[in-house]
Amino acid sequence: MWMYEKKLEYPIKIKHPNPKMAKAIITQYGGPDGELAASLRYLSQRFSMVTPQARATLNDIGTEELAHLEMVGTMVRQLTEKASIDQIKAAGMDAYYADHDKAVYPVSAAGVPFTAAYIQSKGDPVTDLTEDMAAEQKARSTYEWLINLADDPDVIEPLKFLREREVVHFQRFGEALVIVQDFLNRKHAWAVKLPCD
Ligand SMILES: [Fe+2]
Repeated sequence: MWMYEKKLEYPIKIKHPNPKMAKAIITQYGGPDGELAASLRYLSQRFSMVTPQARATLNDIGTEELAHLEMVGTMVRQLTEKASIDQIKAAGMDAYYADHDKAVYPVSAAGVPFTAAYIQSKGDPVTDLTEDMAAEQKARSTYEWLINLADDPDVIEPLKFLREREVVHFQRFGEALVIVQDFLNRKHAWAVKLPCD
């Protein structure tokens, strides 16, 4: 089960509407390398993970990604809430507006709706953890590209925080991979030894 804390992991107070930036940032809500994909990937993979430590890592990081999803959704909302129709049109957000008004809906920056095809849950712990490390690097890269596109410190600071967390997650998945490989090697050594006994 989960306990909900009614506060953001990092404060977000964007004063100036910018639907153009929202259109890019929303990719970390519902895009291929976004927080929804990350949380679903890790929270699904944990069921078949082989060591308690690696399962706990997937659980912890999958949970934190939900908090990041909340942050990204808050950013998108604050960037669009007070935007005028002219600003929406100038940002090329008119197609999104026609379908969703200024609500937050999981799509990529190109407007492609979220799909579970972005993620895998392979049942092989090494495969899954390797995917997770790549996913963290892809998310870090995306945050860097978003920081490059931004010019408002109210937008840049939370993006920098999110980028930093992806670096930490990458390291934690790396540690989990070492633990799992060690576990599998010992299991394999034991299995090979048995017929010789
Ligand atoms: Fe992450």
